Amino acid sequence: MKHTSLKTFPENFLWGGSTSAYQVEGAWNEDGKGPSVVDMANHVEGVTDFKVTSDHYHHYKEDVALFAEMGFKAYRFSIAWTRIFPEGTGEVNQKGVEFYHNLIDEIKQHNMEPIVTMYHFDLPYALQQQGGWANRAMVDAFEQYAQVLFNEYGDKVTYWLTINEQNMMILHGDAIGTLDPSLKDPKKDLYQQNHHMLVAQAKAMKMCHDKLPHAKIGPAPNIVSIYPATSKPEDILAADNYVAIRNWLYLDMAVFGKYNHVVWSYLEENGWTPVIQDGDMEILKGAKPDFIAFNYYTSQTVQESTGDEEDKQGTGDQHLTIGETGVFKGAKNQHLKTNEFGWEIDPVGFRTTLRQIYSRYGLPLIVTETGLGAFDKLEEGDKVHDEYRIDFLRKHLEQMQLAISDGVEVFGFCPWSAIDLVSTHQGISKRYGFIYVNRDEFELLDMRRIRKDSFYWYQKVIKTNGQDI
Ligand code: BG6
Repeated sequence: MKHTSLKTFPENFLWGGSTSAYQVEGAWNEDGKGPSVVDMANHVEGVTDFKVTSDHYHHYKEDVALFAEMGFKAYRFSIAWTRIFPEGTGEVNQKGVEFYHNLIDEIKQHNMEPIVTMYHFDLPYALQQQGGWANRAMVDAFEQYAQVLFNEYGDKVTYWLTINEQNMMILHGDAIGTLDPSLKDPKKDLYQQNHHMLVAQAKAMKMCHDKLPHAKIGPAPNIVSIYPATSKPEDILAADNYVAIRNWLYLDMAVFGKYNHVVWSYLEENGWTPVIQDGDMEILKGAKPDFIAFNYYTSQTVQESTGDEEDKQGTGDQHLTIGETGVFKGAKNQHLKTNEFGWEIDPVGFRTTLRQIYSRYGLPLIVTETGLGAFDKLEEGDKVHDEYRIDFLRKHLEQMQLAISDGVEVFGFCPWSAIDLVSTHQGISKRYGFIYVNRDEFELLDMRRIRKDSFYWYQKVIKTNGQDI
């Protein structure tokens, strides 16, 4: 649909940027922090681990000042569960609690809104050793953790995100480093984990509303449009299968408190239905998010499953499609270009995704991640000419404005990432930030912060409230 006049971005729109604790903080074992599953995972050969990353733990004041200079109205970051509870439960680590007080205070002093992700991939390793999310006790552990966060930071934080990309942890945990390699029947185990995460999330949302009437809370999955490769009805059905398994399972539960029927029958068919305890469905139905946060990097295209092993081919990357025999098969979209890592670039798909989520759930939306990973080059005079990133973000913003003009309610945009950080499995040289961090894969160099060209571009976008993109 064409618009002859575009709606402007709303007043008080939350322009910002995102990071996650384990990818940006470093200080992986400082001040009492316990190890998380990503600290203990085997790291991909040739790329850095998560021990130092961008050392934001020691540079947070400087980093927050740079975000403020860009004009950020909001900064989305995550809290490392293992700083608060080194063992996942039990005794609280006061130094960890203090760090996030300091960080939040710093953000607020610069007139930015803290947007807090409670859990972004970094499950405490101690809990993993007790069975991780497959263990029902995790629901209580998350509840206890949520209680500490709401008690400590509840009077300072308005926007809470429960779990980052739960769907990617279930579907692509091997790529991200969250999958327990010792699992004997991973799919069955994962859908049990999924159920426990959903119950834990529902309890956290309810607790947030009970304790903090002024606060707003929502889930933060990765949601993207799924295209059929052709208009062949079987391809369309395959896309319908995949969209239910990848997207709607998570949001139907968060918003409506019910299992998506297509997914439920797929779980039954495979013998993967989770154990549901008495009272779980009431808990799930009784919690309502205030908004939906979502991450979008690329659309995905699928076709009919051919029923053979070829269906399952894929790289294991969380943004590339792996098919499932009898359900769908990943396909290449001939109309889209890819980035240096093979991810298809699809700004129009971003508009479609915004429309689809809003039409289905009718809740306000905030974009908590999108962005372009690239091998940036630091040039003479401390310059980084990342016009490809500007181009990516500009095109996505144009489409977001079109979606707003289509009537979609969007209240914030926090691209990935506010500053360079370590990718889930492709190292620090896959850079996303507006700010360059001077280190290499294995050499830390001086870690100085350098404003990229995209920094100045985004500064202008924010200053004009998206009028000049
Ligand atoms: C999302 C995650 O899946 O994509 C981030 O929420 C991640 O943690 C981002 O970094 C980009 O993916 P990657 O694999 O390039 O780091």
